[in-house]
Amino acid sequence: ALVETSKCLAAYQAVKDHLRPEYTRIGIGSGSTVVYVVNAIAELGPSVTSKMAFYPTGSQSEELIEAAGLNLHYISKLPAGQQLDVAFDGADEVDDDMNLIKGGGACLWQEKIVAASAKRFVCVADFRKLSGRLGTAWKKGIPIEVLPMAAPRVLDELRRMGSLNPRIRPGLPGKAGAIVTDNGMWIIDAPFAPLLLLKDTESGTQAGNGADGLWTVDALADKLIKLPGVAEIGLFYGNNGLEVASGAQKPVAAYF
Ligand code: A5P
Repeated sequence: ALVETSKCLAAYQAVKDHLRPEYTRIGIGSGSTVVYVVNAIAELGPSVTSKMAFYPTGSQSEELIEAAGLNLHYISKLPAGQQLDVAFDGADEVDDDMNLIKGGGACLWQEKIVAASAKRFVCVADFRKLSGRLGTAWKKGIPIEVLPMAAPRVLDELRRMGSLNPRIRPGLPGKAGAIVTDNGMWIIDAPFAPLLLLKDTESGTQAGNGADGLWTVDALADKLIKLPGVAEIGLFYGNNGLEVASGAQKPVAAYF
């Protein structure tokens, strides 16, 4: 109950602070916390929401938007040169620099596209998810969306990079085989030792280039995204968290 209260309070506060009535395009992420975000938005009523278009990050979020009676639009139809005003999404872990692990719900690829399409990306989570270093709170590993035929090779690469027991995420209990994403891909969960922040290496304490299995968020993400067969990774990292023209991965604000 404490966790649900935390999610709910964070969601209502985030909507209060970051959904302005003049906004017309809103991104809606995936997961159980976003349910509260959608509730908070729907409670504003049609006088506010009827002029707004809502953009999902996958099938769950699409259903949420429709069930709440909000206008469903698709990022694939976003006019050239346009952006979302704001996107709200959950996270599995948030570090001190607002880097995120996402993809516990297997929606990371579309989530990153929607976040990157928004002028402002706002993260909503509960208190369990805040940590100093990624990999401390979310211990299942970094979710990596892969083309199924590439999975064995990517697993080999991950082991070489020091991942401890990376594995293909299984499907639902009672269902044979791997979980299949909204994009027809598989998910590999790759645990690594807690990730260093860039500022750890600037202070000269650690290398963070993978030696001894220690990585900074940036170095690991740069390497993972380049592996053939990797479609997207669940590390949202790298920009400074300010409002940016496009390409946001880190949020401008995180609520707990
Ligand atoms: C979905 O793939 C994830 O990125 C979710 O945003 C994340 O798992 C948070 O989900 P909960 O709000 O259910 O914890």
